[in-house]
Amino acid sequence: MGHMEFESNSWTWDGVYYYPHLFGVIMLTALLGLSTSYFGGIAVPTLPYLLPDFRIFQKQKCLKKRVRVYMDGCFDLMHYGHANALRQAKALGDELVVGVVSDEEIIANKGPPVLSMEERLVLVSGLKWVDEVIANAPYEITEEFMNRLFNEHKIDYIIHGDDPCLLPDGTDAYALAKKAGRYKQIKRTEGVSSTDIVGRILTTAKDTKVSEQDNMNKIEGEETQAKAGQMSHFLPTSRRIVQFSNGQGPAPNARVVYIDGAFDLFHAGHVEILKSARQLGDFLLVGIYTDQTVSEHRGTHFPLMHLHERSLSVLACRYVDEVIIGAPWEVTKDMITTFNISLVVHGTVAESNSLLNGKADPYVVPKNLGIFRTLESPKDITTTSVAQRIVANHEIYMKRNAKKQASENKYYTERKYVSGD
Ligand SMILES: *[C@@H]1O[C@H](CO)[C@@H](O)[C@H](O)[C@H]1NC(C)=O
Repeated sequence: MGHMEFESNSWTWDGVYYYPHLFGVIMLTALLGLSTSYFGGIAVPTLPYLLPDFRIFQKQKCLKKRVRVYMDGCFDLMHYGHANALRQAKALGDELVVGVVSDEEIIANKGPPVLSMEERLVLVSGLKWVDEVIANAPYEITEEFMNRLFNEHKIDYIIHGDDPCLLPDGTDAYALAKKAGRYKQIKRTEGVSSTDIVGRILTTAKDTKVSEQDNMNKIEGEETQAKAGQMSHFLPTSRRIVQFSNGQGPAPNARVVYIDGAFDLFHAGHVEILKSARQLGDFLLVGIYTDQTVSEHRGTHFPLMHLHERSLSVLACRYVDEVIIGAPWEVTKDMITTFNISLVVHGTVAESNSLLNGKADPYVVPKNLGIFRTLESPKDITTTSVAQRIVANHEIYMKRNAKKQASENKYYTERKYVSGD
């Protein structure tokens, strides 16, 4: 049944592939049956080229067979844990194809997603390890879909994490791929999950009383559960930062662009603004505010993700060259000199704008130097608006979280050391 749904939805996206980092830009190489009404003029502007570029096909023919790997997921409230899984998947091949499960399939299997398909696609294709995306992937890999991956998409291996993925009838969702000898496993490493993030948001909502009283009373009773969800298992290591980094400074004569922010709950709006900023120069340096700075400007319950978590999410973005882990609120002359910053940019939808009233302008120095520019934010999504979607549907998410939290707690209690990256 899920497969039928995939069939009916997939035509809008089938054949829409990204080939990132060829010639330094994302190229859209094949565009078959693209439904403009589906995109509604939203997703198209994010793709720089709409015409097939056959040079790529010619180029690839000359190369030796490249190993193509496939990994799928819902990628709802995408975080650095997803990013790290895809990084590991990419390391098992040469080209990584990512299937993003459709809204309908997520609704049917686990309740409404927080982020739309379009937002999830922007997030996933914004990751530096992702080469192609398949939108509206099915929730479970049926034999038919698996054959399609092998034959149409030329996939060599299907990748999944070391956590068991069981179908409603209790069978292993990857049994077919395993039997075909086309399955590879990665280690689930990060101490974060979407469930955990939803927990943090609901706890914050309760504490800050941003929601109406009626909602608050309901949330109150569920406080313990949310608090448990808020506990982070994340252990920041230098190794992970290295794995996420490009490891390169700006080339000689490079034009360095600087953008700063909290980048809390990394979302599609962040990807779009980072992309716009990167296009203004050769090297994008991103300043990530300290937890203390974010709290001072946004309230004590923020940030939802701490500095190291936010840094990894930003580093995983393909448009980012370097991050400052703990940037100051004000852009100083010294910083501009140290990093040879040519341009400082700031988005129009940036959350902090509303809090600037009556406070010192952090961009006085670049403004006086004539190197400041305001960037029109392509999306009006913010950390708060994402959080509000969850608060508005908190009963649904509470239920979903309670169930998932139990299985996640079990996972953390029973987990054993697995060697791997
Ligand atoms: C500093 O940036 C400018 C571009 O704004 C570039 O021309 C110059 O070469 C850079 N300086 C160094 C030492 O790389």
